[in-house]
Amino acid sequence: MTKTLIKNGTVVNSTGSGAADVLIDGETIAAVLAPGSTLLGFDIESKVDTVIDAKGKLVIPGGIDAHTHFELPFGGTEASDTFESGTRAAAWGGTTSVIDFAVQTTGTKIQDGLAKWHAKAAGNCAIDYGFHQIIGGVDEDSLKAMSGFVDEGITSYKMFMAYPGVFYSDDGQILRAMQKAADIGLLTMMHAENGPAIDVLAAQLVAEGKNTPYYHGIARAWQMEEEATHRAIMLGNLTGAPLYIVHVSAKQAVEQLAWARDKGWNVFGETCPQYLYLSLEDQLGADSKQWGTFEGAKWVCSTPLRSREEGHQDHMWQALRTNDLQMVSTDHCPFCMKGQKDLGIGDFRKIPNGIGSIEHRMDLMYQGVVTGELTLERWVELVSTTPARMFGMYGRKGVIQPGADGDVVIYDPKGHTSISAATHHMNMDYSAWEGYEIDGHVDTVVSRGKVIIDDNAYLGAKGDGKYIKRGLSQYLI
Ligand code: URP
Ligand code: ZN
Ligand code: ZN
Repeated sequence: MTKTLIKNGTVVNSTGSGAADVLIDGETIAAVLAPGSTLLGFDIESKVDTVIDAKGKLVIPGGIDAHTHFELPFGGTEASDTFESGTRAAAWGGTTSVIDFAVQTTGTKIQDGLAKWHAKAAGNCAIDYGFHQIIGGVDEDSLKAMSGFVDEGITSYKMFMAYPGVFYSDDGQILRAMQKAADIGLLTMMHAENGPAIDVLAAQLVAEGKNTPYYHGIARAWQMEEEATHRAIMLGNLTGAPLYIVHVSAKQAVEQLAWARDKGWNVFGETCPQYLYLSLEDQLGADSKQWGTFEGAKWVCSTPLRSREEGHQDHMWQALRTNDLQMVSTDHCPFCMKGQKDLGIGDFRKIPNGIGSIEHRMDLMYQGVVTGELTLERWVELVSTTPARMFGMYGRKGVIQPGADGDVVIYDPKGHTSISAATHHMNMDYSAWEGYEIDGHVDTVVSRGKVIIDDNAYLGAKGDGKYIKRGLSQYLI
């Protein structure tokens, strides 16, 4: 078994940081030692296969992106990253585990959808992966299938209050699924937007000739997110089902989460880098007279980008500091402009919804440390430790400690990262982050003891990543 020593670095866990050496034996962290320690009198360095000098660098647990959509059939096309390309891009960005969404659509069997996702992922991933289950049709069959989730290592499932006719569930269906989830201990993940009302607004806008991508964000007004978030919280409270709101972008939705959490309810929320950095005004671009050009399609996602003038982005950063939001995922759902996003030229409703960011989440969130919004420890907590705990992987993932998987990132805080479609590894013909010049750099990535990124080279292989059978959320008693 390969032994690796990472020496001279600053180990950062969510609970604290300090100078330490990390010994990885095979796939597992064997010891976290005072710098230069010997082990039972042996000089460790002479007993290992690989020594990585992390002087001046941060040694952090591998990132966990708990919200990705590889190969998702959506909007008349399919998300452009495969499990192979998407997990490789994740590795480049310091992410060593992902949780993707297996899909059940109305009229199909959950077990078939899950089997399809296992087939897509098995043998193709560069890093470890787990699944949440999308439930797109609540009926007797799917409710029965939920009983088998925990045995499959799937302890969370997603429902949609949006996308009527695609993934949408009505309140009665949500109630029934939540009743079942409360019985079993599953975490309900909710896409909280009022889909039926949004569809009416969107149709009215298009009928008035307001058909550019900018109007995607106008139709999906913050009231639609606030209202649905509140409704989901109340249904969760009524049924006793713990609730996790995905891709929160409206400050009013955060206020709903804070309100429920202050009551002591089991309600959690994630936001995504796009809602911290990008805005509706950016999407509009300079061409405000024309209400934006089709260029704005690059940033069409749901929930949508919000107005900076209204202060949503600042509020997201604040909520990450105060723990009104607990973690940051990407909602990685990439589409190319050519042949995919362009399906919506002349009608924003036909633009496939999604942004690709899996490669940049760790770096983009590190900017919160640079600007003083986050401590180093909170950064690690948001991108690794809380995702592990929230989704039943903590101890094995999300922490540098003996017994944990050897998932470690060596991060250079003095390094620099340039973001561009010309250099990224995601399967996209544009970058939502084109031209970003940011501090920090992912130097080395170790995944279950194997060095898969080093010195700007990919050393991993498809099939390195294994399925993670997750336990119940470790935030719930
Ligand atoms: O725009 C988005 N978010 N696309 C992916 C599907 C979803 O709702 O998460
Ligand atoms: Zn969603
Ligand atoms: Zn999503």
